[in-house]
Amino acid sequence: MKKIGVGLLGLGTVGMGTYQVLKSQQPEMLQKLGVELEIRKIAVKDPEEVASQVDDPRLLTADWREVVQDDSVEIVIELMGGMEPAKTSILAALNAGKHVVTANKDLVAVSGRELLDAAAENHCDFLFEAAVAGGIPIIRPMKQCLLGNQITEMMGIVNGTTNFILTKMEQDGMEFQEALALATELGYAEADPTADIEGLDAGRKVAIMASIAFHSRVVFDDVYIEGITKITAKDIQYAREMGCTIKLLGVTRYDEEGIEAYVCPMLISGEHPLASVNDSYNAVFLHGDAVENVMFYGRGAGSLPTASAVVGDVFDIARNIRHNCCGRISCSCYKELPIKAMENTQNSFFVRMLVEDKCGVFTAAAGAFADNQVSLAQIIQRPAGKGFAELVVITDAVKEGDLKKAIETLKAQATTREISTVLRVYQKKGETE
Ligand code: NDP
Ligand code: HSE
Repeated sequence: MKKIGVGLLGLGTVGMGTYQVLKSQQPEMLQKLGVELEIRKIAVKDPEEVASQVDDPRLLTADWREVVQDDSVEIVIELMGGMEPAKTSILAALNAGKHVVTANKDLVAVSGRELLDAAAENHCDFLFEAAVAGGIPIIRPMKQCLLGNQITEMMGIVNGTTNFILTKMEQDGMEFQEALALATELGYAEADPTADIEGLDAGRKVAIMASIAFHSRVVFDDVYIEGITKITAKDIQYAREMGCTIKLLGVTRYDEEGIEAYVCPMLISGEHPLASVNDSYNAVFLHGDAVENVMFYGRGAGSLPTASAVVGDVFDIARNIRHNCCGRISCSCYKELPIKAMENTQNSFFVRMLVEDKCGVFTAAAGAFADNQVSLAQIIQRPAGKGFAELVVITDAVKEGDLKKAIETLKAQATTREISTVLRVYQKKGETE
């Protein structure tokens, strides 16, 4: 029987993992798929450098065009990352009638519509399961098993590096810089960790999840993003006293006012299952009207876990080729829903501030919240030395715009030394209204 030719673009962390998984699957491929796959070309920047790491160095080329123009290649796997030449190479492959698999969330979160349109026009598959939460199956379950649901919320921990850092701050009392240095030393954080610690990586995943969950295109720029660089060990200690832990959460929700999509460090109840998702693990919660709650948990990054998702997509396409079909899991954005401004979202808030430690200051601070329709749920007050007190509150659910007004009122009070931290507190949809 004819074998299906595969071309690889990039042989880095995920590329090499994919090469290894395809190799390890070779003996059972025929039984599993009814057809065999064969790697026919691999594009790398420097073929000589990686020659010893592949079985047949003659497959290596320094030019991605040689892969997408190779007539014997039917499936192209893009694992170079970034915007270019990834986008040009994917479009070239689709326009040449080749199916494409990628893990490239940066690109899909910005140009997903264009790439999916190109796939549809050329009657090809374009799959990207690995782009959200690495090895955890999320996209295919949403597009297949859970398609009979009206999804109203998806939220979770979708970045392993920041979850590792916050876990070290929580469990070992480390400050942010110390935990980041450890994450770098252990190879979790990249040399430039900006995309992880500033929340950009998670933001890209939220854009993709929201688009699929609500059948309406959400792009990276639609997602409100805050990173974890300003979180201190003190915030984590107070959060714990108040029964919570701090996690970088990606949240997307839908109601009649539109889609909410944001990434930010949030307090979450210690009783919520996400509170015990630690180290570099990821987990995603989803609420559908029929299925109710579903939780996905596993490795959101890493060479083999991510390769697991990439190879799953490649195998799916191989089945399609064998059965002479494609486009079964294509673009599902058939609506155009508005994106809700952050001002109009509802959350509880954690506010830590330094105020003068004298009679009447607490009443004045409480008044600043009350005057702006912000009701308080929990309060801690501690002497902070040198005539100051630390005041830490958790509010009830409020419109973000009202909380901002309360903060401005507090800042204007002469007795307020500083507003140290303002964080959102995660509450399940339905508990925030
Ligand atoms: P790496 O940087 O480890 O690998 C990318 C590889 O592509 C590098 O070897 C790079 O070479 C090579 N490359 C870059 N440009 C070219 C080019 N023009 N021609 C040929 N080769 C090229 O990245 P990852 O493997 O970590 O990531 C790959 C993709 O997977 C990204 O889109 C990433 O977002 C995504 N992803 C990664 C996960 C992970 O855990 N690492 C998890 C989920 C998704 P060189 O090193 O010489 O620049
Ligand atoms: N840098 C990402 C993380 C992995 O730490 O989760 C790639 O998605």
